[in-house]
Amino acid sequence: MFGPPVALVSLGLSLIIQPNSFGANQHQMIIDRIEQRAASGWVVPTPEFTDYLYPRLTLDIAGTEWVLLNKTRPLNPIDFAPTNLRAMDSSASLDNSRELRLSLPAASALEEMAAAMFADGAGQTFVNSAYRTYEYQGELFVQKIEQYGEQEALLRSAKPGHSEHQTGLAVDVSVPAQGCAIMQCFGDTVGGMWIAENSWRFGYIVRYEEGTSDITGFTYEPWHLRFIGKPLAKMYHESGMNTLEDFWGLPAAPSYPELMTPSTND
Ligand code: DAL
Ligand code: ZN
Repeated sequence: MFGPPVALVSLGLSLIIQPNSFGANQHQMIIDRIEQRAASGWVVPTPEFTDYLYPRLTLDIAGTEWVLLNKTRPLNPIDFAPTNLRAMDSSASLDNSRELRLSLPAASALEEMAAAMFADGAGQTFVNSAYRTYEYQGELFVQKIEQYGEQEALLRSAKPGHSEHQTGLAVDVSVPAQGCAIMQCFGDTVGGMWIAENSWRFGYIVRYEEGTSDITGFTYEPWHLRFIGKPLAKMYHESGMNTLEDFWGLPAAPSYPELMTPSTND
């Protein structure tokens, strides 16, 4: 059994005290344990895993691959900026002519995914948007309000400090040759369908799936991919769940707390 060993529990406690001390080694330890467990024939995931304390602690920590942001879970600190960014290499399979950046593992995974997609004849991937600073996300949010009005903007764009793009782990992609760039019809293109089916193999998930806006607070975005690492993406895929909130058993986040209307008995 994969009970919470003392070493991990004590790491968990040190996480509470010193959240910034969480490093690559601890993250690797968790991944190793997941892999050991999967290799032993364990069917993933189980409520036991999602109830498990230690992995859940990582969901709060900016800078980990598992950090979970939504309208009720901002980054901490709110203006967090990753330190391990690099621009993806352009190639026949990946057009990153804007020289956009992602965190190192997410950048390599995107290059790997684009190569596989291209080899399967599903098109050349274009990088429309990747890492965004806190300030830039704020500018985009204001632009969206001007373009669509506040209600619609809230469904399309995250407030600064709440966007996965600010973590360096989210990327917006398209296949220009197939049309529908950054439109919902991208999900029906050859490239969009390939991504929906295969991105998990490279550690990515489509974060805002169709019909999940009651949970995520955002409309369907078949182009917005979130990197969570290969072991977790495999578990997520096998779980059949459609949101990270459901996967981790966290509450739905359809709105920002400051915009919620207090419920009354009137
Ligand atoms: N469009 C997604 C929700 C973002 O702004 O991060
Ligand atoms: Zn996006």
